[in-house]
Amino acid sequence: MIKKCLFPAAGYGTRFLPATKAMPKEMLPIVNKPLIQYGVEEAMAAGMNTIGIVTGRGKRALEDHFDISYELEQQITGTPKEVFLADIRNIIDYCTFSYTRQTEMKGLGHAILTGETLIGREPFGVILADDLCVGEDDGVLTQMARIYAKYRCSIVAIEEVPQDEVHKYGVIAGSELEDGVYVVSDMVEKPDPADAPSNLAIIGRYILTPDIFDVIRSTPPGRNGEMQITDALQTQAIRNMVLAYRFKGKRFDCGSVEGFVSATNFFYERWKNAG
Ligand code: G1P
Repeated sequence: MIKKCLFPAAGYGTRFLPATKAMPKEMLPIVNKPLIQYGVEEAMAAGMNTIGIVTGRGKRALEDHFDISYELEQQITGTPKEVFLADIRNIIDYCTFSYTRQTEMKGLGHAILTGETLIGREPFGVILADDLCVGEDDGVLTQMARIYAKYRCSIVAIEEVPQDEVHKYGVIAGSELEDGVYVVSDMVEKPDPADAPSNLAIIGRYILTPDIFDVIRSTPPGRNGEMQITDALQTQAIRNMVLAYRFKGKRFDCGSVEGFVSATNFFYERWKNAG
């Protein structure tokens, strides 16, 4: 039912310098696959095969990754190495990719608003590729799309985090509607632990209804002077309804070195076992 998925990918990746000096952080590999490809595979599994990517300067490798490389194809077609390109070929066959550039870094809300031109007036998924998710059964976006089909409103994915980490996230308060699904009553971007409404942190998966674009446009700058998607969602929660969904699965914060290494270890075990 939801066909489009937006990937904000204009950020600098300063925590991984110097690796990200000339290479987009979304291209950092976990074992043999770049972070963004895991995200696109998750979107594709949820039936979202119209992919919009919000890029910026120095991000051209993203576009090349989701395109045919004729020289490479020529070199390896008919050799045992051909199998290594099977997944990415499948993605290129099954998905379409569109790109737009965010020319100024003014926050996640601004990045999503920049993507409006790729999305139009329909509900859409959002994946922050830094948050690498492994669903317990289905992928996280597939789980969320199922909830969307039932309630037809914006949804954020959440996870419980230790109290001393709430300042890194958007944090929600809400009442449980059904197992793991909360009606959001409050949302705060990166609160001080003392002011946090709970320890339920938003992670980088969203389903948004298209009225979010007008709401972002009329939302004043928030935390760090940036346009915050959390603030826009808080407005949607008051006007209408926003749900928070405690997803089933694991998340690796690949925006941090520790999370990146944990993800690498996890996927290395999978890769080894797959033979
Ligand atoms: C963004 C959002 C935040 C959310 C986080 C998830 O923050 O603003 O609400 O909890 O992503 O990864 P960022 O990590 O971009 O600072």
